[in-house]
Amino acid sequence: MELKLEDMKKLMEKLEPVPQPEWDGISYPSFIPFREKGAEKVMQDIMDFKSRESDIILATHSKSGTHWGYEIIQMLLRNTTELEKGVKTNSMLEGIGDLSSLDSTPSPRILDTHCKFKYLPKQHIENRNKIVHIIRNPKDVCVSFYHHALKDNLVNFNGSWNDFYELWMSGKLVYGAWYNYELEMEQAEKDFPGMIYTCFYEDIKQEPVKEIKKLADFLEVECSATHIEDVAKATSFKNMQEKKFDITQIFDGKGFIYRKGEIGDWKNYFTVAQNEQFDIQFNEKMKDSNLKLTFA
Ligand code: A3P
Repeated sequence: MELKLEDMKKLMEKLEPVPQPEWDGISYPSFIPFREKGAEKVMQDIMDFKSRESDIILATHSKSGTHWGYEIIQMLLRNTTELEKGVKTNSMLEGIGDLSSLDSTPSPRILDTHCKFKYLPKQHIENRNKIVHIIRNPKDVCVSFYHHALKDNLVNFNGSWNDFYELWMSGKLVYGAWYNYELEMEQAEKDFPGMIYTCFYEDIKQEPVKEIKKLADFLEVECSATHIEDVAKATSFKNMQEKKFDITQIFDGKGFIYRKGEIGDWKNYFTVAQNEQFDIQFNEKMKDSNLKLTFA
């Protein structure tokens, strides 16, 4: 799809602020489909979406490295090291008004969403089609989300770090609480063995070649060791920050997806008291989880 950036900027400028759309106890960014169809219909359309056997769904909690994962997957599937000209948003299920527009996308399609597991296309799950899930240290997710929310006009937030931290702790942010998302994913991995491949942001950052190879194996893509190394280089933070088109420039003129790309930025934001309170909530919410997260 050819992107008409100037038209999109004008459209965004014209959009009136609206309350955050909400359905089933979860609020969402006020993307155009939510304004036009309402949140219930958006979610229903996603659940009813006709999946193809070759579809890959990239399922992440917001700010966990979705753009990065998308680029790695597209390079593996298409045997290329070129950054895709289009943007991930073109395949974001909750951002597309008419999902039948994806009918013309050649297979294998990469679809992405931040919606919880229970709202994913039913047919995709029934057929046990592939899902790639990236998980990231929630403290870094929180900081990354704070910066995103400050600049994204479709998320109603205009406060301080402390305000954002309180919102996170209340679980009332768009897409719902991180814990609910990740616990549901963990359960889904048990319920549907082999369907979901979970990778950790921190692992990909530290050992990209090893992690990309594991992902290629899950995707059943055969590629040489050299290709894997080239994909790792092409999807490095530096390369993507410099060269990848960033649709969020429609909001601030510069774009804010490729912000810092580091492990541990939370240490620059959390106070000692916030960190302690976060750990208490984390340990309580995740007490039955087997997830091993790195809080570096
Ligand atoms: P920061 O805000 O901490 O920099 P999402 O794509 O899910 O919105 O996640 C965005 C986060 O992933 C941002 O984190 C962004 O910098 C980081 N990111 C994007 N591309 C990356 C890459 N190639 N390597 C490492 N991190 C990347």
